Amino acid sequence: MSVIFSGIQPSGTLTLGNYLGALKHFVDLQEDNHCYFCIVDEHAITVPQDRLKLRDNIRSLAALYLAVGIDPSKSTLFIQSEVPAHTQLGWMLQCVSYIGELERMTQFKDKSQGGKEGVSSGLLTYPPLMASDILLYQTEVVPVGDDQKQHLELTRNLAERFNNKFNDIFTVPEVSIPKAGARIMSLQQPTNKMSKSDDNQKAFISMLDDEKTIRKKIKSAVTDSEGIVEYDPQNKPGISNLLTIYSVCSGRSIDELVEAYEGKGYGDFKTDAGEAVVGVLSPIQTRYYELLESEELDQILDQGAAQANRSAEKTLKKAKKAMGLGRVHRKR
Ligand code: TYM
Repeated sequence: MSVIFSGIQPSGTLTLGNYLGALKHFVDLQEDNHCYFCIVDEHAITVPQDRLKLRDNIRSLAALYLAVGIDPSKSTLFIQSEVPAHTQLGWMLQCVSYIGELERMTQFKDKSQGGKEGVSSGLLTYPPLMASDILLYQTEVVPVGDDQKQHLELTRNLAERFNNKFNDIFTVPEVSIPKAGARIMSLQQPTNKMSKSDDNQKAFISMLDDEKTIRKKIKSAVTDSEGIVEYDPQNKPGISNLLTIYSVCSGRSIDELVEAYEGKGYGDFKTDAGEAVVGVLSPIQTRYYELLESEELDQILDQGAAQANRSAEKTLKKAKKAMGLGRVHRKR
């Protein structure tokens, strides 16, 4: 039994990458662990957001968590901004973070490539807030996709630094990255990560794409001209990515798939891969639309916020005391 924490940004509909790299694994973890799953809306505002769209995306993400199988009787599901301790500890951890280490984060470097003038400072100080999310719950394991590895390394460093400097308050968390599906690539540029912010809609499969769109996107995925179904991410990134997707969605191993499609070309393979993805996403979508407008969703989030606040406040109190913030009441 471990304490598990993970978060997802409510910035647009999630992709198949988010599902295969993260969400899918959350469901299994909740059976034997104490899990916290968070809708990290305060992370989403590090880039400009439309107010009404953000509201919709938060609700939509909550419904998706439940639709994939997160069970509120087993896991705590909540919205980050409804637990004020996150930004409070986030600030305290900013004060033990160094500008240099934050500027070295790949995600910051990528997003600030166009110059630093139009980039929010929140984008730079995002990793200490992420560390706060994790450390508030004395998290032992953080299941994430491969792109979050660097942020997790920083979280561990901040926890250790804080513990050494002040007092031994935080558990130093381990990262857990799935063996298959940790980095699902773009369908159009298979050397890049599949991302919901891609301008090209054909590059990603949204978890809410209808069946026809899913089949079409897989059909038009960029591969190569060899026509041989083979797993070779270096030289054949497109077909290797589709093999990973097909394998994780069908539960069949990559070797088994390579053997099954020997001598068959990419046409049949893509058709069947598309069916495997539809088979996974379609039942999730049915549950999602049922949940979206339900009152049940609000009750679950209220209950989640109350539970999360209770745990988070305990750690925050200890961390504040360790840093010397606030007062200690004089005994009469
Ligand atoms: P976010 O919202 O970008 O992504 C959510 C999760 O999906 C994974 N992921 C992928 N996995 C495989 N292939 C892909 N193409 C792919 N794209 C995304 C991510 O690795 C992640 O696990 N900073 C985080 C959110 C966060 C968080 C946290 C996570 C905030 N606080 C605390 C864990 C713990 C983020 O932006 O994820």
